[in-house]
Amino acid sequence: MSTPAKMRIPYVDIAAQFAEQRGELMTLIERVLSSGQYIDGEFVQQAEAGMAALCGVKHAVALNSGTDALFLGMKALGIGPGDEVITPPNSFVASTAAIVHVDARPVFVDVLPDQNIDPDQIAKAITPRTKAIMPVHLTGRIADMQPILDLAQRHSLFVIEDAAQSIGSTYDGRLAGSIGHVGCFSTHPLKNLNTCGDGGFLTTNDDAVAAAVRQLRNHGMADRNTVTQFGYVSRMDALQAAIVNYRFGKLGETIRARRENAARYRALLDAELVFMPPDRQIEFNTYHTFVVQVDRRDALQRHLAGHSIGTAIHYPVPIHLQPAAAALGYKAGDFPVTERQAQRILTLPVHPSLRLEQIEEVAERVNAFVRNA
Ligand SMILES: Cc1ncc(COP(=O)(O)O)c(C=O)c1O
Repeated sequence: MSTPAKMRIPYVDIAAQFAEQRGELMTLIERVLSSGQYIDGEFVQQAEAGMAALCGVKHAVALNSGTDALFLGMKALGIGPGDEVITPPNSFVASTAAIVHVDARPVFVDVLPDQNIDPDQIAKAITPRTKAIMPVHLTGRIADMQPILDLAQRHSLFVIEDAAQSIGSTYDGRLAGSIGHVGCFSTHPLKNLNTCGDGGFLTTNDDAVAAAVRQLRNHGMADRNTVTQFGYVSRMDALQAAIVNYRFGKLGETIRARRENAARYRALLDAELVFMPPDRQIEFNTYHTFVVQVDRRDALQRHLAGHSIGTAIHYPVPIHLQPAAAALGYKAGDFPVTERQAQRILTLPVHPSLRLEQIEEVAERVNAFVRNA
């Protein structure tokens, strides 16, 4: 649900973030525009170095979006016609779209109660045509990667991390984007590390993949006069790179505030009636979103909206049931866990600008509703 501006407790507050950072951002914007270098150049190189350091990988390639990170990552790995890529059906549509756009086939498997892909289901879906597994680290929580890595190794598959929602998250001490062959990040304004427009990164320890994505993002050019393959225009521009560089320094505080807000919800919400997937011992969840699972979700969402509390649903229609997926041949009932969650999930506001009393109010309103339901 889009969040009307009148919400007293908005689901997100991007304008508040800008208001807080206005002075520094305007100075930066002036600097970039004065430099005359709007494509490539020092700001982009700095962003790549910063991102590689943040994720603990050899290479980060700055791109125009998380979608193109997924798309170009698969291109660089040689995934194409006839190949199958296993992925969950409850992601943002971009993960599946990227598979379709490399002319491979998305093979969906169901998820666990925490909304992330179920490794046991992956094992059952592997065929001789499977080329890769694309777990999506939804909500800021990394998928259960060890069994996924074991399966990938056993069957010689690539692992493509859709880490668009999980920058800075860890699993067993390993950072999102450093666990699989490639990591794909978005810096969309709603993400924890966000630009003022579209942006993304591909991360990898593979020199050849990084080099291929660098060429593909820039028309397939090896240098100004040599086109090795026809490519795309998928670069991050200097303005967004400068903003990312500045916001690298803010990410720690963003994550700390989100985790604190999430912990408050956990303490306040009625866990008997509101399901909140627990954090595993081995994970560090960065709470890109705080998603609860409840009965009568739509009524609860309306109830909260009636009290000027903004919420969202990520995502109300699983990808296999979207009109765009009709040709893939899936039907309602194929993924019961995903489909049930789609009816029950509700994303509560967890952004860093929330005050304690606002979280308390959200929790009180939710509790009152579920207890009366
Ligand atoms: C899970 C997931 N994958 C992929 C994307 C695509 O990223 P972008 O919007 O930067 O293309 C997003 C976010 O938008 C996302 O949440």
